[in-house]
Amino acid sequence: MLVEFLNLGRQPIANGFLKQEDFDKEFFYSLRVGFDPDTQQLSLLELPKAEQMFNGGYVYRSSGSATMVEHFKEAALTLVEKDDANVLEIGSNDGVFIRNIPKHLGVCVEPCDNFASFTERMGYTTYNNFWDTKTAEKILRNHSRFDYIFSANCMCHIPDLDEAFRAIDMVLAEDGIFCFQDPCLQSMLEIGSYDQIYDEHAHIFSPYYIRHVTRKHGLKIFRIRHFPDIHGGSNRYYVCKAKNVDYPETDVFDKKYSLGDMIAWGLSIKGNTDNLVKELQHYKLMGKKIIAIGATSKSTTVYNYAGIGPDLIEYITDSTTEKQGLFSPGTHIPIVSPEKGLDKSVDVVYLGAWNFKKEIMAKYRYQLRDDVKYITHVESKDNIYR
Ligand code: TMP
Repeated sequence: MLVEFLNLGRQPIANGFLKQEDFDKEFFYSLRVGFDPDTQQLSLLELPKAEQMFNGGYVYRSSGSATMVEHFKEAALTLVEKDDANVLEIGSNDGVFIRNIPKHLGVCVEPCDNFASFTERMGYTTYNNFWDTKTAEKILRNHSRFDYIFSANCMCHIPDLDEAFRAIDMVLAEDGIFCFQDPCLQSMLEIGSYDQIYDEHAHIFSPYYIRHVTRKHGLKIFRIRHFPDIHGGSNRYYVCKAKNVDYPETDVFDKKYSLGDMIAWGLSIKGNTDNLVKELQHYKLMGKKIIAIGATSKSTTVYNYAGIGPDLIEYITDSTTEKQGLFSPGTHIPIVSPEKGLDKSVDVVYLGAWNFKKEIMAKYRYQLRDDVKYITHVESKDNIYR
């Protein structure tokens, strides 16, 4: 049973970047988080409706960083071993993965209309639907079952995982492979990246919980790959039918957590957030110019939990043109292009996209001063540049 261990307060839609005239209409909910020590399930206890988050106005583009373009190319090249294999992608966004699959073999599922028409225009049959058994039935009317199914940063978005895995079982070929990747619970706990918790992430997966869910649906995990640098630590799970004798079920070695561990972690992130605010206030009092790079959905959690607005962070730069000219959800920090916002007058940069720190620091090196300070709330030594 899920027990509430953390309340990150009143939060807006994390990807709901908005115009000034829409400030009054903004929707808020309570970001409450539960944990079940028996299954290691971590899930949100209150969620906005799916249509409030995933619709034609969805602005997050998976191809927004060179790191991710390269990462998904590797995913496609290492997953698909047979030349004529058919591949289904669930949550195909702007096609960053599927573009590596021949057009006649790739099929997409994407609930956001803008991105569904994007992959359709690229030449891939795309179902503009949420992932469930109804969508699976619709697909099976037109296609045979799939040799490979891929999904990145999408399964953790689906509140009803039983329904999602039932649908996977329906469309997966008897000897097929379902490969999916999502942020990893252990990494989040170790580096204090509590900003992985926001409305879209209905769950943060532990391999124990994935084992629990897959077993319930006649499936098994036969391989797990960990990527420490992807979204601060992601796991890629390889799943097949339980009766597939080619692949034995893999052992799961991650750390197991108690409810006490989770409560202690919740207290520690409160401390980290207080320290971040103190640090920003300190620089502000010294008259420093503080900005942020990366108008991420993650940072919505931090800004709203910590109460960080334009009084502390003057503006955010983001390379996504659809976000420029809008304001951050809830605390309304203006978003501008990197060309407009990054120059030698900047003293301190809060890394909203701390997960792309290397790419960001290399890319904007010449626009910013050498002595610019990068700060983040994330604890990993690797992520802190002071
Ligand atoms: P993400 O961490 O949720 O993937 O979002 C990253 C955001 O950061 C996305 O809006 C694009 C933005 N970004 C930049 O503005 N400059 C960059 O160099 C990179 C890599 C990302």
